[in-house]
Amino acid sequence: MGADSGLTEIAVAGTPGYSVVVGTGALAEVEARLDPATTKVLIVHAPALAARAEELRERLSGRVQVLLAEVPDAEGAKRVEVAAFCWQIMGQTDFTRSDAVIGLGGGATTDLAGFVAATWLRGVDVIQVPTTVLGMVDAAVGGKTGINTAEGKNLVGAFHAPRAVLCDLSLLDGLPRNELLAGYAEVAKAGFIAEPEILDLIEADVDAATDPASPAFRRAVELAIGMKARVVGEDFREAGLREILNYGHTLGHAIEHAERYRWRHGAAISIGMVFAAELSRLTRSLDDAAVERHRSILESLSLPTSYPAGRWPTLLATMKRDKKARGDLMRFIVLDDIARPTVLSGPDESLLFAAYQELSS
Ligand code: GLY
Repeated sequence: MGADSGLTEIAVAGTPGYSVVVGTGALAEVEARLDPATTKVLIVHAPALAARAEELRERLSGRVQVLLAEVPDAEGAKRVEVAAFCWQIMGQTDFTRSDAVIGLGGGATTDLAGFVAATWLRGVDVIQVPTTVLGMVDAAVGGKTGINTAEGKNLVGAFHAPRAVLCDLSLLDGLPRNELLAGYAEVAKAGFIAEPEILDLIEADVDAATDPASPAFRRAVELAIGMKARVVGEDFREAGLREILNYGHTLGHAIEHAERYRWRHGAAISIGMVFAAELSRLTRSLDDAAVERHRSILESLSLPTSYPAGRWPTLLATMKRDKKARGDLMRFIVLDDIARPTVLSGPDESLLFAAYQELSS
């Protein structure tokens, strides 16, 4: 990739490490990123991306044999039957250990593609090509792969680092505005926990910060990816630091559950981040202005910041079951200040209720 290519390359440490390539046209890097020994590629894509998958097939077909696996949209992709459909294609085409999967789509598609790659012959390469903001800044980076079961989300999976992640900003053209803004909640999260420059960009001009064609958007997305790259580079298997990425997610996951997964993830974690900020004010040194900053930034992104008061008992029960709970202690990521995250373990339920009251309507 030449210095004047206009693409940014963000390194993720690991054994081996890999790159996240960001910019308009990043998809053109796909051939160069394949292992030279690869002779077959399986492109896993959602129905809405069929035309893009076909373009990719044409791009690669002089170099490798290309197979397509069209999988259901969104969470419908993350089912064992869908993984089995992909394994069947791989089995019937003698997919070997040196062949590669390409995940083309949103977070659910890349989670499935990564899982299929992690499990086939105990692990083959996956190149992730996220097509949503959520995918670019979170799901496709960091090697968490998985599917859901009837008992819950992401219960079956593997840590399987991608060979490369290609974040082609032109793939965001046509993404519905509310989908883009929901994904942007994860960009704002990166701002709150580690990269205040993102918050400044949103406050300076929210339209520019959320316009994929603007330099401000690219800067914010690159800062968010850079943050995630540093965190997962240091703590691939979530033994410690990676937990900070769950800021806003404990209550957020409980809201997603309460809403039977019909809400967008970003909307749920937006409320979760206001809750985490309120909890930080009650238990740590986060000040009033920083809590209000959460509200004003998230509201400027048209994200929700309150939730009905009567839902508290249900949410609390779900949080207690959260799979990230260690033993019988609930854990929350809180802030001592903007960009200073820490873990709050086993808080008194009265504190949780007090924080919730600040955001319940
Ligand atoms: N989405 C949180 C993580 O990758 O750890």
